[in-house]
Amino acid sequence: MTPSTSRRAFLQTSAASAVAAGVVLPGAFAAGNDAPLRIGLVGCGGRGTGAAREALRADPNVKLVAMCDAFADRLQESLGNLKKIKDIAAKVDVAPDRCFDGFDGYKKLLEHVDVVLLTTPPGFRPLHLRAAVEAGKHVFCEKPVAVDAPGVRSVIESAKLAKQKGTGLCSGYCFRYDAAKRETVKRVHDGAIGDVVAMNITYHTGPLWDRGGPDKFDSMEYQMRNWYYFSWLSGDFIVEQHCHNFDKANWVLKGAVPVAATGVGGRQIRTAPRFGNIYDHFACTLEFPGGVKLFSACRQMPGCSSDVNDHVMGTKGQAQLMKHTVTPTGGEAWEFAGNAKDMYQVEHDELFASIRAGKPINDGETAAHSSAMAIFAREAAYSGQRITWKQFINSEKSLAPKEYAWVTNPVQATPTPGAYKIA
Ligand SMILES: NC(=O)c1ccc[n+]([C@@H]2O[C@H](COP(=O)([O-])OP(=O)(O)OC[C@H]3O[C@@H](n4cnc5c(N)ncnc54)[C@H](O)[C@@H]3O)[C@@H](O)[C@H]2O)c1
Repeated sequence: MTPSTSRRAFLQTSAASAVAAGVVLPGAFAAGNDAPLRIGLVGCGGRGTGAAREALRADPNVKLVAMCDAFADRLQESLGNLKKIKDIAAKVDVAPDRCFDGFDGYKKLLEHVDVVLLTTPPGFRPLHLRAAVEAGKHVFCEKPVAVDAPGVRSVIESAKLAKQKGTGLCSGYCFRYDAAKRETVKRVHDGAIGDVVAMNITYHTGPLWDRGGPDKFDSMEYQMRNWYYFSWLSGDFIVEQHCHNFDKANWVLKGAVPVAATGVGGRQIRTAPRFGNIYDHFACTLEFPGGVKLFSACRQMPGCSSDVNDHVMGTKGQAQLMKHTVTPTGGEAWEFAGNAKDMYQVEHDELFASIRAGKPINDGETAAHSSAMAIFAREAAYSGQRITWKQFINSEKSLAPKEYAWVTNPVQATPTPGAYKIA
């Protein structure tokens, strides 16, 4: 499989053709009843294990019946941990012949389940999502949902197909399931601070995990175990982590499509080869119609101040989404005072309730747009150019490797502004 043929395949899938033809396809599960739902987990790491726990708590008649991970040891660790959680242990029913590893394990898993949790690194998300939706499965799909423009387009097609099939597609942009943020954004949408003219989103944190391993940075095993540091797998940290802030901006701006982006970024601290090819800081600006601007900054360095925030500026005041405050100029300030249920649990509660009600959630296109905004900003910083949304979203540039196999996979060069091309 070459990158070009695999990407062409994305865009010429039966999913895409069915959508284009306006065909309404049957779902695999008769929505609206309370029949048992069999859950499968693809990507058995920290988040996947958490998502399985939450899915099992979300509905009385569900079981985890199949698991898949690129690495058998990670799968067994996750399975062992799930079996130790008292309130869900009886719902963990994963026989050895329903444990799958390797790059193609997800295909076998799909034969055994009604609902699939997609929690691998995001580089695989478009591929796994397409397969799950085509197979008629309900999906919980972690953020971000893509790492490049062809992946974004593929996810949009899959989301449309899921709508036609009537299957659920809930994304892991979890802040949208947090009652405190829902209340805050509702007030902004209701006009409490006038028209939104700008947002400043920040994601300044310390470094993340560093799993190490043998010093063969061009081995597929090293890259897969240390996926965060390789852009083909993570999309770089602006996409992998800061995407939550872009999603909140997308929410506040009601899905507005940006016009252009500029940005700077680089790699100042994480320079050792074990850190792959990603940057450790970015500062980008997205321009929207009507002069609205989104200012984004993210940094991951030790010994620096931390700040994760979404500051909304309106013609009549301001709001802080992480602090749940709305402050009209000269008016009475509001702050969320309720008790919000754990948003990670709420997303599964709402997904399963929507399946049972026969009106499955479909977050897919929104999640694709939020992920795309982060990728767009990254491409502006990588290239050092002012790029337009049209240039970006139509780009055929794929980050995927030549093949998904346990082979040598040369580390892609760290992008150099001025030399990097977005298409
Ligand atoms: N919504 C949130 O707040 C939140 C929090 C944490 C993680 N996440 C997201 O969840 C995803 C996973 O993150 P994590 O922290 O669990 O990482 P992780 O490394 O702990 O787990 C990922 C797992 O996927 C496996 N994997 C990789 N490629 C695979 C493939 N092709 N097929 C099957 N398994 C494969 C890995 O071996 C690993 O076990 C990321 O997209 C991340 O952004 C979301």
